[in-house]
Amino acid sequence: MRKLVFTFFAVLILQIHPLTGFAASAEQAVAGCVACHGDKGNSVAPIFPKLAGQNKKYLAKQLRDFKLHLRKNPTMEGLVAGIDDKTIDTIAAYYAAQQIQATPTPLPDEDEDDEDDESDSNAFSNTEELLKTGHELYLSGNLETRVPACSACHAPDAMGNPLAGFPSLKNQHATYLVATLKQFREGERKNDSTGMMHMSAKRMSTAEINAVSTYLANLK
Ligand code: HEC
Ligand code: HEC
Repeated sequence: MRKLVFTFFAVLILQIHPLTGFAASAEQAVAGCVACHGDKGNSVAPIFPKLAGQNKKYLAKQLRDFKLHLRKNPTMEGLVAGIDDKTIDTIAAYYAAQQIQATPTPLPDEDEDDEDDESDSNAFSNTEELLKTGHELYLSGNLETRVPACSACHAPDAMGNPLAGFPSLKNQHATYLVATLKQFREGERKNDSTGMMHMSAKRMSTAEINAVSTYLANLK
């Protein structure tokens, strides 16, 4: 009986103080993510996306997409398999509340599989030119090749559209951005519901992908 009363009050306290309950369970829920995504979602290794400050709606959608195998990544698909819906929302809210930290990035490394694209990747002689090209493409797209303006959906400041669940791109690792844009381009990542990212990425050259990713990673 005493145990029952104790449990009753413990549950009551957790409900009265949702923040205490939230903090404990959120931290537990993300304990297995820190190794790759870093402390509070600021990953150190640039192949792992930063999650800090990303909008809740986008994060929750990605986790559900991995769970449903709509977005492919063996590690992530395995990790989310046992995570229930409520915990997905807790994790998404936790990372959305963190602050993203910039990691100033030089030019991404040349990719070995892109040998046929070599002239393309070498089209830029220096980082300054790369940042300028990335900036122009981001804000206005490429009229000639019909690449749409990224800013139309991801916002002029690249913070995304939280209500629509369009992701923030500001200060994400360039290496990850390059990788995921190539996946959209080749159709390996196709969890964008109406194909809008595939339509944008398939028109981008490797040089443009490198430029816009470097621009986004270094945004002030
Ligand atoms: C062993 C390393 C590893 C661990 C541990 C890990 N992740 Fe990931 N995560 C990745 C990689 C790699 C990607 C990029 C997948 C891709 O796009 O190919 C990723 C992608 C993601 C994305 C998509 C981000 C975006 O910008 O689209 C989310 C969200 C995510 N992980 C959440 C989590 C959560 C929550 C946990 C803990 C429950 C976790 N991850 C644990 C490696 C890991
Ligand atoms: C018509 C709207 C639209 C346009 C234009 C658009 N995007 Fe996106 N983008 C999206 C949506 C929606 C997603 C999320 C897809 C999903 O649910 O996985 C996305 C996802 C992304 C991601 C993945 C983010 C992550 O964390 O994994 C990157 C990178 C990206 N877009 C870059 C760009 C760039 C660069 C451009 C301009 C060349 C661009 N987008 C143009 C709507 C758009």
